[in-house]
Amino acid sequence: MTNVRFDFGNIMAPALEGGVGEDLFGGAMVDAFTAAHAAVETRRSGGDLGFLDLPHASETVEQVKALADGFGQWFEDVVVLGIGGSGLGAKALRDALLGPYWNDRSDEERDHFPRLHVVDNPDPATMRGLMERVSPARTLFNVVSKSGATAETMAQYLFVRQQVEEAVGAEKARGHFLFTTDPANGALRRIGDAEEIPMLPVPENVGGRFSVLSPVGLLPAAICGVDLDELLAGAAAMETRCRVAELSQNPAGVLASLLHHSDVTEGRPIHVLMPYSDRLRSVAFWFQQLWAESLGKARTVTGQPTATGPTPVAALGATDQHSFLQLLMEGPDDKVVLFIEVENHGPDAVIPGRHPEIKELAYLGGHSFGELINTERRATAEALRRTGRPNATFYLPEVDPAALGQLFMLMQIATVYAGALYGVDPMDQPGVELSKKLTYGLMGREGVEAPDLLEPDPRWML
Ligand code: PA5
Repeated sequence: MTNVRFDFGNIMAPALEGGVGEDLFGGAMVDAFTAAHAAVETRRSGGDLGFLDLPHASETVEQVKALADGFGQWFEDVVVLGIGGSGLGAKALRDALLGPYWNDRSDEERDHFPRLHVVDNPDPATMRGLMERVSPARTLFNVVSKSGATAETMAQYLFVRQQVEEAVGAEKARGHFLFTTDPANGALRRIGDAEEIPMLPVPENVGGRFSVLSPVGLLPAAICGVDLDELLAGAAAMETRCRVAELSQNPAGVLASLLHHSDVTEGRPIHVLMPYSDRLRSVAFWFQQLWAESLGKARTVTGQPTATGPTPVAALGATDQHSFLQLLMEGPDDKVVLFIEVENHGPDAVIPGRHPEIKELAYLGGHSFGELINTERRATAEALRRTGRPNATFYLPEVDPAALGQLFMLMQIATVYAGALYGVDPMDQPGVELSKKLTYGLMGREGVEAPDLLEPDPRWML
């Protein structure tokens, strides 16, 4: 397996004017990281950080593979119903590893693996459109909810369940569902137990946004033929690399330390993840949730009020060079840009040499698209460096399961280090709960009081 590499040279002085000095590996940042590392190790031994063990959860992986093998042969479409951490990982895996246009390909082009849809938003147009597109009789619905109670996902389940029953009858409908949920608790678990619907567990100590390498991400990937062993081997290798206490040897430690420093010391709280690959666009959205929901907190771990947390932004190169780059280059100097470069894009597309007489086109001839997109990434990184804007790059040897496994693990470990550096708990999300509770109350859930909402004030309405 080739390592994913992390090049942070464009954050360091003297390459970057005013950048971080060599004391990164010798001064206060090392002391802070040493304490963060120790805090994370304590939580790991206390069993809090279940995501670190997922690469070695062989029993569950075998269970996933067995279900995927059985189901994959039967269904033309697989629909994941899940939101936040219960949907973003599956999307990231699908888009990265199945490649563009997967769902548009013929059965033969997909080697008879099913199409894969990940539906998170309870948008009526999407829900109606979904059921018009798939044939319920040939579709498997993987309902994913750790809590088994999230309004969006439960509403989607009720909607599709009704339609599947109408299409195939109540008895057969059960065979079109697979639940991924808490191993013991929640409404979904209760329904699954009562109706003997197959279920996969989200380990109790694995939270939504840290669940991509649990059955939440693994089942949809496996059912479409992704090699889980390679994915998990990549994650395991990165977990080993990031276990060391020495900052200079720990990629997740360096990532967390530099981004934390950029925020609290340099006034750069906006962290942009910008892969130069369409296949990795959804990874940027996955990271956006991971970084935001884990680090944006009102209280420290000791209960002190704080209002901390960086703002992650998902972008895409080269597309966003034509929308976002102007702001990155010349707008407020409050951002760090993290690029992802794919070193080998796989089968490339060569740009034909036509119009040798037109200089605006002639230079492109004979180069490939892989060369062009990577050159644009390098040019953008250099332009940012020249204007004193910090940036760093993850190099993926290729977009394959091993590299994805490494990247997911690197970012998750960096998130728990960053939590320790900020002094907050990256594993909870109390801020999300209020909107869920208000929704339950407004929608009439028993036992939840309906809140009074302010009526719109006509003075402020045009
Ligand atoms: O990361 C998280 O914990 C959240 O984003 C959850 O994944 C999201 O709210 C969905 O929750 P659940 O899986 O319980 O339906």
